Amino acid sequence: MERRGTAAVVLLAVAALAAAEAQLSPAFYDAICPALQPTVRRGMAQAVQKEPRMGASILRLFFHDCFANSSDGSILLDDTPSFTGEKSAGPNANSVRGYEIIDGIKAQVDASCNATVSCADLGGPNWTVQLGRRDALTASPNVNLPSPLSSLPALLSSFRAKGLDARDLTTLSGAHTVGFARCSSFRAHVYNDTAVDSTFAAQLRAGVCPWTGGDGNLAPLELQGPNKFDNKFFRDLIARRVLLRSDQELFGGGAASSSTTDGIVRAYAANASLFADDFAAAMVKLGNLALTGSNGEIRLNCRRAN
Ligand code: HEM
Repeated sequence: MERRGTAAVVLLAVAALAAAEAQLSPAFYDAICPALQPTVRRGMAQAVQKEPRMGASILRLFFHDCFANSSDGSILLDDTPSFTGEKSAGPNANSVRGYEIIDGIKAQVDASCNATVSCADLGGPNWTVQLGRRDALTASPNVNLPSPLSSLPALLSSFRAKGLDARDLTTLSGAHTVGFARCSSFRAHVYNDTAVDSTFAAQLRAGVCPWTGGDGNLAPLELQGPNKFDNKFFRDLIARRVLLRSDQELFGGGAASSSTTDGIVRAYAANASLFADDFAAAMVKLGNLALTGSNGEIRLNCRRAN
């Protein structure tokens, strides 16, 4: 990561292959689609150049995909009259974005690699991305995601259910160093909460987040640079200047004793490269929640099962 910004977030929409090849591997497509990584990087770089927020949006899309079952492209399936998937689920509807960027990159990769390419692989360029994920055949609106009002115990148990611990939770929440949230996601925190800096909350109330209306108004999750991937989010947490109640639970005593996550927040606030290294490792862990081998399929169109 090394503070390269959200352009660092890359989508490796890749493909499938031989049922014999059951493990994820960075070299999975070296032989069948050598153009994959440059094509994906170029597609993401263009998208981020056009709209800087898109890196954050794709990063979040990846997280939401991985938490609902696994990192299997299930979030990309469109609803139909007889099928309700993840797109219309509460945390995703009118909030997760970037689907058309994935469609565009998938088309470019397929053009060079003969439709060997699936929709499920995603990661960042400055760590080694494991490849070989397969696409889900279906999806469900039950997406297992914590809410922005979740307490620390609720956050911990939702991450534990995915094999992720308190450190992973704290590290991955550092993704909120980039991107934006809607007023409807943080209204309760800036109007009704005490675990927030009062000046910060007053600014948001007077500015982008009125008590009624303005639900879709956006504020940056990290004030000083919503398009820059750095460790400032953890300093904001210590200063109680973050938008989401769930994030503040990681520091300063929420409902439960948070001594474990307090210590990790302090360490990241003091050491940007510790955070960057841990973030890369945690993203690999998140992406390893995957379908491999002969499970699932290689979708031709990311929006529907073959
Ligand atoms: C720990 C539990 C988490 C909760 C409760 C949570 C909740 C949220 C909420 C409510 C928003 C604003 C959405 C909106 O208002 O439309 C958001 C944005 C975002 N989240 Fe999380 N999140 C969590 C963890 C994560 C993780 C693990 C990642 C990635 C590794 C992530 C990446 C992002 C990004 C990048 C954005 C900004 C997206 C954009 O600007 O389009 N979040 N999150």
